[in-house]
Amino acid sequence: MQFVLGIFAAMIITNNASLKEYNTFGMDVKADAVVEWASELELKAVLPELERPILAIGQGSNLLFMDDFHGTVLKSAVQGIDILDITSDYVTVKVGSGIPWDDFVTYCVLKGWWGVENLAAIPGQVGAAAVQNIGAYGAQADQVIDTVIAVSLQDGSVREFTCEECQYAYRQSIFKNELKGQYAISHVIFTLGLKPSPKLGYGNLEHEVSLLGEASPINISKAVRSIRQSKLPDPQVLGNAGSFFMNPTVTRAQYDGLTERYPDMPSYSTPNPDMVKIPAGWLIEKAGWKGRSMGKAAVHDRQALVLVNLGGATGQDIMALAKAVTESVYDMFSINLSMEVNCI
Ligand code: EPU
Repeated sequence: MQFVLGIFAAMIITNNASLKEYNTFGMDVKADAVVEWASELELKAVLPELERPILAIGQGSNLLFMDDFHGTVLKSAVQGIDILDITSDYVTVKVGSGIPWDDFVTYCVLKGWWGVENLAAIPGQVGAAAVQNIGAYGAQADQVIDTVIAVSLQDGSVREFTCEECQYAYRQSIFKNELKGQYAISHVIFTLGLKPSPKLGYGNLEHEVSLLGEASPINISKAVRSIRQSKLPDPQVLGNAGSFFMNPTVTRAQYDGLTERYPDMPSYSTPNPDMVKIPAGWLIEKAGWKGRSMGKAAVHDRQALVLVNLGGATGQDIMALAKAVTESVYDMFSINLSMEVNCI
């Protein structure tokens, strides 16, 4: 069933809805209802009628559904990119949470604005990017987020969170932790630079950009796109949710011990000099899992951090593979992998 609610022309409510198009793993599960909302007012008006629990999603690019969802799935369709302030150094823009993240990146790089070019081609919506604190190629969303505007799922009140209040860390925010399930994000306010500030330190990014010409936002975004395409599977072809695990952080003492046995183990420094981050993809590959499958679930053959649905896998199939991978990595390195993907 699909109907339009009075003056709220954009709201779409679908009962007993398939979620296959709402999650990039392509899990064929259902929700009691899916509600697409396009403004804070609209969401507030409909909230009392919604079946609980409520799950706010973006494009479902970081979710693994284990089963049908008995409740309401809320999908943001909030649009708009509005300039709030502009100086000679920066521009502040308010962006609807329902805009695909990569459309926003394209908008910014075409304007010559700096700050999101390294985050090109990441699936998902703007609102989800602020929940997940997406990061890639040496950049992270919290470096450009100024304010997050969100609607309380309890009473429909609108609250503004400063970047500090969002408690951002690597792939973490208050919306994934303390306030999990309590807010739906309606807008994100970003501050982007107008003066050149290229970040080219990650991997071979600098070389890839130099092949395209000057280090402009558009060329950096193009280089990132091509690197990502060469490694990461397209969810339209092979269901996946990007990195399945987070890169683990270990003490420097544990890392030093491990490098005696594995001298080629790569690492990244962290803000805490006593802690070191290790690429989980390397650990998984070393444990022999790259390209291996278990039933209809597999470890991607070009990036071991990505688990894929070979077609018809269930959430249980993916989790069984994740568990086997986690156990192997633990047996070999005494390192516990944590999931980046949210399991529902
Ligand atoms: N590596 C391997 N084998 C693999 C994969 C990686 O040995 O199968 C090694 C690489 O050789 C390299 C290191 O691991 O030395 C890092 O690999 P890569 O640059 O591909 O990045 P990552 O650490 O595996 C992270 C993010 C990605 C992001 C890239 C690029 C996490 C959990 N993942 O992956 O984000 O695109 O860096 O910045 O932090 C995502 O979150 O969904 C995602 C794709």
